[in-house]
Amino acid sequence: DDFEGEGVWRYSDALPLESGVTAQEGATPLYEVPRLEESIDVEALRIKHEGMNPTGSFKDRGMTVGVAVAKELGVGRLACASTGNTSAALAAYGSRGGMETLVLLPAGKVAAGKIAQASLHGARILEVDGNFDACLDIVQELASQGEAYLLNSLNPFRLEGQKTIGFEILEAFRDDYGAFPDRIVLPVGNAGNTSALYKAFRELVQAGELDRDEVPKLTGVQAEGAAPMVEAIENGADEVRRWEDVETRATAIRIGNPVNAPKALPGIRETDGTAISVSDKEITEAQRDLAGEGIGVEPASAASVAGLRKLRAEGIVESDERVACLTTGHLLKDPDAAAAAGNDPEPVPADTDGVLASLASENSS
Ligand code: F0G
Repeated sequence: DDFEGEGVWRYSDALPLESGVTAQEGATPLYEVPRLEESIDVEALRIKHEGMNPTGSFKDRGMTVGVAVAKELGVGRLACASTGNTSAALAAYGSRGGMETLVLLPAGKVAAGKIAQASLHGARILEVDGNFDACLDIVQELASQGEAYLLNSLNPFRLEGQKTIGFEILEAFRDDYGAFPDRIVLPVGNAGNTSALYKAFRELVQAGELDRDEVPKLTGVQAEGAAPMVEAIENGADEVRRWEDVETRATAIRIGNPVNAPKALPGIRETDGTAISVSDKEITEAQRDLAGEGIGVEPASAASVAGLRKLRAEGIVESDERVACLTTGHLLKDPDAAAAAGNDPEPVPADTDGVLASLASENSS
């Protein structure tokens, strides 16, 4: 099954291969969210839900290309460092491609759903006594010693696949509104998507399919406890300072050393975008707001909506803007975070009268 001409592979002209190791990734929904649009107060708001990919995150778009390239190269072992989603996607796509996979995870800091995926898809899982950035340092060394083929977003073929997020958003806005979005807001960890979207826009401008003044403003959102990119944007710095100590409930973006920053910083600046940080509380509120529109996302994903709300309240985003927010991973990735943010189940007796009595009383949660 080549999945030729569909999903990510509909854009094969812009990719390094005609077809990949595929699980039918891409072509994700772009949801309308009328209540959120009104409460945030922008002209149009759409949610590009990347949690609807086969393994529940945007990483699949990168892996379908990256794993195919690895297969063509005939490498032995595929490896990544991960806050969870990359490991889930690598394990799944590696096994579709019939290859051995190794994942290095920060011990105790990866959401349950993601470990379950890496585990069942057959990755060898090493739990490192350190954070994600330390894991990535080690995997880079393993790769340079020829021990493994690296499939983190430092791998350019990964980002080629992730460009298709941008192509899909632009096409959908053009079809629905007759114009491209003014702004794309996305969560930032390693800044891979930020770099990939910027590359997609540049290629479209070069091809004459997008005017320079139509390029959406790339707007990155980080958690307050892990915000080195925001620091660099606010200080007008050319380089990002590595944060050694990072913390956030949005474990997917618990990253202190965004390795794609050299490509992402110019992307944010040259599109006239910005970057902002949000608290874990704001992230949880945005997760509930999205859930209230029927869209289930993991905490890191909700950062985009939390950031948009904050930028609009500060007047940096204006009310006449058409905005796409990227939600990067599915609710079920992090069931513990969802349960903590949502309603508590109420124990009731196994009879109708008892259930009616409970319904008549106030929900105490
Ligand atoms: N959102 C989610 C759900 C993620 O899993 C990640 C990255 C990001 C956002 C940040 O994306 O790196 O392109 O800026 N997760 C990686 C992983 C680090 O290992 O799964 P970025």
